[in-house]
Amino acid sequence: MTHLRDQSVDCRAIGAYDLRKATEAAARAAYEWIGRGDKAQGDHAAVAAMWTELDALPLNGLMLVGEGPRSEISMLYHGQRFGDATSTPAWDLAVDPVEGTSFLAKGMTNAMAVVAMAPHGTLFNPAPAFYMEKLAAPPAAKGKIDPAAPVDIRLKQLSEALNKPIDEMTIYVIEKPRHKALVEAIHAAGARVALYPAGDVAGALMAAIPGSGIDALMGTGGTPEGMLSAIAIRAMGGEFMARIDPQLASEQAAVEAAGMDTARWHGLDELVRSDNVVFCATGITTGLLFEGVERSGGVEKTQTLMIGGDAGQRQMLTSWHRRG
Ligand code: FBP
Repeated sequence: MTHLRDQSVDCRAIGAYDLRKATEAAARAAYEWIGRGDKAQGDHAAVAAMWTELDALPLNGLMLVGEGPRSEISMLYHGQRFGDATSTPAWDLAVDPVEGTSFLAKGMTNAMAVVAMAPHGTLFNPAPAFYMEKLAAPPAAKGKIDPAAPVDIRLKQLSEALNKPIDEMTIYVIEKPRHKALVEAIHAAGARVALYPAGDVAGALMAAIPGSGIDALMGTGGTPEGMLSAIAIRAMGGEFMARIDPQLASEQAAVEAAGMDTARWHGLDELVRSDNVVFCATGITTGLLFEGVERSGGVEKTQTLMIGGDAGQRQMLTSWHRRG
């Protein structure tokens, strides 16, 4: 059995059903490294597998938000071109072959492989920033939260938009020293905090999906994860805003040299300027959104969340792959 198809998503030339080959391959390659205490090897295996699948697609692709600068890595670097340069339209991609490398190394839940794409020229380019502050929320909150307002005001605005008391709301925050004041402010306002050691793509997606148990994501995380979340949430119709928020001195200097405004919040319409986007994420370890890779005998099972097309369909694909 190979790639048993549950449902189709998009019948255009390249869609989620094609792109998921890259996340499935990355997740299956990373599987070998679950719980082995080695972040780098799992990441390398996933990068190589994802690169091979992406380059084999009849896709005119530019790696806008890759794994790092060309000077540091050989595959999936920022600005790398791949696929078929003659095919139209051209696409810009954001990737994270292992979102949650520490989850992978520690054998914890929530590691996933992620790829997203949008028509060439329609994505915000966060380089050279590594970090951005993010705010994600369900569709009902779209345009109703001032991300620059104090935390208690933001929660009040969210509460009104969702018609839900603050003390019933849960805010997803990754557990980092930089978020101490944020967590204290959320608690002081009366909301719950769901603290996860890593993984703000899962948090952002949960925040944008009504009824997921998460009402918003707040705090600062990676820019690739931010752009991946923005693309998925643009398709699903939720709210996502981001502000460049350098955490390292070298990053701060590079951001200043690039003339980026760290005070400015970028709305979803600026981060992703097209509805014609595709997002795929495959579970490596079982998490909040989907199951991880399961191996049984000669077969591997994967679960992939696919979001795509102008209508922003969201579908879950379970595939069985013969090994070897
Ligand atoms: P990794 O895959 O690099 O481990 O990233 C996981 C993650 O938690 C992201 O979800 C998040 O955006 C970022 O790290 C935050 O970065 P940092 O751990 O440096 O604060």
